[in-house]
Amino acid sequence: MDKSDRPIGVFDSGLGGLTVLAAMRRALPRENFVYFGDTARVPYGTKSPDSVRQFSREITAWLVSRGIKTLVVACNTASSVALDAVRAAARGVPVTGVIEPGAAAFAASGGRKVLVIGTAATVASRAYGRALRRAAPGALVTERACPLFVPLVEEGWSDPSRGRRAAALTRLAAEEYLSPYRGKGYDSLILGCTHYPLLKGIIARAMGRKINIIDSAEAAALAVRGTLAREGLLRRGGRGSARFFVSDAPARFSALAAALLGIRPGRVGVKRF
Ligand code: DGL
Repeated sequence: MDKSDRPIGVFDSGLGGLTVLAAMRRALPRENFVYFGDTARVPYGTKSPDSVRQFSREITAWLVSRGIKTLVVACNTASSVALDAVRAAARGVPVTGVIEPGAAAFAASGGRKVLVIGTAATVASRAYGRALRRAAPGALVTERACPLFVPLVEEGWSDPSRGRRAAALTRLAAEEYLSPYRGKGYDSLILGCTHYPLLKGIIARAMGRKINIIDSAEAAALAVRGTLAREGLLRRGGRGSARFFVSDAPARFSALAAALLGIRPGRVGVKRF
């Protein structure tokens, strides 16, 4: 097989990484993907860095053994605390996380003052702060954990068609987390978690509509395209495909993928560690 025909490996703590997969499929429609969601051990956002590193190493070794040509760490928490461990386990396969691309997108936008939101583990790691200081020296960076957003998205409570009270509760959570930053001169906000693109409208409203919302998923997709082009690994013909694996509860994964993202994964394999 031509090396460019090999799949792109993608992993996340669960189903949130499907936002990154969707962005990649838009940017790279010819590519084949193999997606792994660690549904047995989700959430990563409340775990210790050591545990997330261990999980990420195991998943990386398995994806690499499937002959992937590049690896994308879709999970912001794993990208924040485990990128070095993933690179070490990837045996030379190029690795893209979501933090650097998000920081580069902010730098390219010319923004000066940015709020980064993510899980507790992502914010505690300060990985976005470090990447932003490298990409945009002089920028003012604030990081804020919004731990209720992930369960609210997974319950479908961000979707007004699922009930007005539920959507109002999600808006209230966004107000509680974000109103202290509204009107304080923030020109940009980085969605530093896989689930947050699904709350983009609610987050924009809570911050005041003029804010530039940077989606790490979109930025990572463009970075992957750049990496493949540089390495001469872009697939040249054909239509792309995606295969899905999880570590537990494949039926729940499929149901949520369809309900939240309109993705129908087909047969979902199970890989336990
Ligand atoms: N995928 C995680 C992230 O982007 C969110 C869900 C979790 O906490 O595992 O940080």
